[in-house]
Amino acid sequence: MMGLGYIGLPTAALIASRGLKVTGVDIREDVVKTINQGKIHIVEPDLDGLVHHVVKEKHLKAATKPVEADVYLIAVPTPFKDNHVPDLSYVLSATKNLIPTLKKGALVILESTSPVGTTEKVQKLIFEERPELKGHIHIAYCPERVLPGNVLHELKHNDRAIGGINKDATDKAIAFYKHFVVGELHPTNAKTAEMVKLVENASRDNQIAFANELSVICDKAGINVWEMINLANKHPRVNILKPGTGVGGHCIAVDPWFIVSEFPNESGLIKKSRETNNYKTEWVLEKIKNKALAFKIENDREAKIACMGLAFKPDIDDLRESPALYVAKTLKKGGFSTLDVEPNLKEGDTRDLTTVSDAIHQADIIVFLVAHTAFKTLDIDTSKEVLDFCGVRQ
Ligand SMILES: NC(=O)c1ccc[n+]([C@@H]2O[C@H](COP(=O)([O-])OP(=O)(O)OC[C@H]3O[C@@H](n4cnc5c(N)ncnc54)[C@H](O)[C@@H]3O)[C@@H](O)[C@H]2O)c1
Repeated sequence: MMGLGYIGLPTAALIASRGLKVTGVDIREDVVKTINQGKIHIVEPDLDGLVHHVVKEKHLKAATKPVEADVYLIAVPTPFKDNHVPDLSYVLSATKNLIPTLKKGALVILESTSPVGTTEKVQKLIFEERPELKGHIHIAYCPERVLPGNVLHELKHNDRAIGGINKDATDKAIAFYKHFVVGELHPTNAKTAEMVKLVENASRDNQIAFANELSVICDKAGINVWEMINLANKHPRVNILKPGTGVGGHCIAVDPWFIVSEFPNESGLIKKSRETNNYKTEWVLEKIKNKALAFKIENDREAKIACMGLAFKPDIDDLRESPALYVAKTLKKGGFSTLDVEPNLKEGDTRDLTTVSDAIHQADIIVFLVAHTAFKTLDIDTSKEVLDFCGVRQ
């Protein structure tokens, strides 16, 4: 298993728990050391016990360099560079590192979210350095769609699309996943499997963009968007999602760009959705600033603003690409007096946080950025200004 992060480590541990011998490879020595002690470096329920068990049983061992194997899985990061161009350097470097250990009959599976054609690039790289392996190894793509926080269950139970470079590779990859997946395994080709993953996230992004656009329109029209969407959804074939502060996280806000960067002329709607969701965050910021300025004019002092929620979605502590965090930080940077509230962050976090009750007591303007359950039933003084961008108070 190349890469022992949020995807690689649970996958490696699950495979090892089926009695297969797994070497987990990571370029970070601290990660390798931690895992070999039977401990984990990421937060994921039940993973610590499983890793402890499989390391103790000697089914999982971590290393900084790959070893000869029957099956290679690659789950390294695929971020984007400037201008939203995908950065494949991690995938290509992991591939380069495993090439010297490849033997005839090996199966190489890329799991990292990747632009269409990446599996072919991996193949090209392998055969450039080891032409004698042509026709003798199997290369496939199988994307991951697990939900952080429920990874071990979903790894086992989710359906998967599995696409080989050729039919033989697809069959070999399916036979491998059968060792630990009980969900259905759907055969396809590598390019289709790559596109499936990107489209899943682009589809979510597009549907959220529609809801966010409606929220801006309804604000201008003086219509309560939450009530309007609720009523529209009474139609048996309409299902509009909820608007919010924007779109965050490391998947939905990132993966659509992999399509846009490759197919710029054909992906107008996908690009527009990304832009609409990013614009919504700026729109939220403007609304808050305007409210703060109006408060200052009326009261002859700066408003104290409570930023309720920093995570990228409700009831989690994950701050990656979070639009709520961006709003809170930008307000602070702009000289506004803010209180940051995130009840899901654990105690001991070094961030300067205010508790929910202190914030609603101290603030003049209370801004709901994330629909955390903890915000649903607060008793807020009617003298306070409330801005609800996520519908948690509706
Ligand atoms: N985390 C998720 O919920 C999720 C869901 C679906 C898909 N994905 C995709 O899975 C892939 C991995 O994501 P993640 O969240 O596990 O990332 P991560 O950052 O948690 O872990 C990646 C690991 O790979 C290691 N690494 C980097 N280069 C390496 C190399 N050359 N050789 C060996 N190890 C190397 C890093 O040190 C790191 O520990 C990405 O493409 C991501 O988009 C993630």
